[in-house]
Amino acid sequence: MKVPFTWKVTGWFMIGWSAEFPLGETRPLRYFGEDLVAYRDESGEIHVLTGHCKHLGAHIGHGGKVVGDCVECPFHGWRWGPDGRNTAIPGEKRVNRGLRLRVYPVNEQNGCVFMWHHPEGAPPNWAMPDVLGLFPELTVDPGSFYRPYPEFSRKADGEPVHPQVVLENGPDSAHFRYVHRATVTPRMLDWNESEHSWTFLTGWPDVRSADPDAMAMLIHAHMFGLGGSISAFEGSANHRLIFAATPVDDETSDLFYSIWWPKLPGDDSDVPPPAVRERVEKQFLITVWDDLSIWRYQKYVEHPALSPQDAKPYMSLRQWATRFYDVPAETPA
Ligand code: FES
Ligand SMILES: [Fe+2]
Repeated sequence: MKVPFTWKVTGWFMIGWSAEFPLGETRPLRYFGEDLVAYRDESGEIHVLTGHCKHLGAHIGHGGKVVGDCVECPFHGWRWGPDGRNTAIPGEKRVNRGLRLRVYPVNEQNGCVFMWHHPEGAPPNWAMPDVLGLFPELTVDPGSFYRPYPEFSRKADGEPVHPQVVLENGPDSAHFRYVHRATVTPRMLDWNESEHSWTFLTGWPDVRSADPDAMAMLIHAHMFGLGGSISAFEGSANHRLIFAATPVDDETSDLFYSIWWPKLPGDDSDVPPPAVRERVEKQFLITVWDDLSIWRYQKYVEHPALSPQDAKPYMSLRQWATRFYDVPAETPA
C-alpha cells in the first residue's frame, strides 16, 4: 500500500507475546526495515538490539547465545550488553569501546511485548500505557480475565497495510455493517485527541429499545500513538482487546490481535474453557481477517468524501497522526 507518509513511525509498537521470548533465548526480528535481535536475559528482562554484529556482520538472532544479561554472537563469540556496548572479545583483554549496537527500549506487560521506535534512535518521550489499567471505571484486575495468549491471540505477518490505515477503522462507522456483518451502525459518541493518544467512545444502538439513544454496547477505545488501539467493551460483551500494527519495512506490517475475555463466575483457571473459546473465536477473533480482506487491496485516498457523521473524527485522527511522522515519506528510488 502506497501512503503519503512514512512507515518509519515514532512510538511504541507491539513485537509479540511474552511466551514467544523464552528465558535465555535469542530471536531474530525484522521491523522498520531493520534486522533485530531480541533476547530474554537470565534475569528475565527482554532486550532488543540491532541484529547484525559490529564485528563481521553475523545475525546474532540466528544462533546467538544469552550469557548473563549479554548476548554472544554465534560467529566469533563477541558479546554485547543490554546497552548495546561490546562487553567481551574472545582471546583479547580489551573490549572495543567504539562499537555499539543500537538499542530499542522494550515494555513488557500483560503478556505482550512492545518496542519503542524513533527513526533517528531518540529515546521514548512517553510511556507505553498499561493495557488493562486504561479504563479505571471498568475492571482493571488482570486476574479477572482468561489469558490472552495463545487461545485468544492472532497474528498476521507482512500484510500490506500501514498502521494509520488500521486505526482509521475506528472512526469509520459505515464499514461495520458491510465488513463485520453488524446489524446496526455504531455511533461515535465522543472522541478526544491528546498528545500521545486518540481516544473515542462508540455506542451500538439497542434495536430492542424505542429510545434511539439507548445503547446495547459501548466501546471505549484508546490509540497508543499509531502502534495500535486498546478497547474495552461494556454491555452485551465485557472484554478488552488490543489490535496493533508494526511496520516490517516500507510496504508491510505485522498485525497483532489479543482479547482478554472475562472469566466465567467461579472459574479461577487462566485457560478459557472450550465453549468460551468457540464463542470468542467465532464472534471476535475473526474480525482481523474481515478487515484484511479490504486492506490487502485498498488504495489510500488522501481526500476522501466522508459521510457527515464520520468526517470530523476521521479528519481529527488523520491530523493527530501526523505528529508521529518525524521523517518525510520515502520517495521511491
Ligand atoms: S561477526 Fe560477530 S563475533 Fe564475529
Ligand atoms: Fe474493521
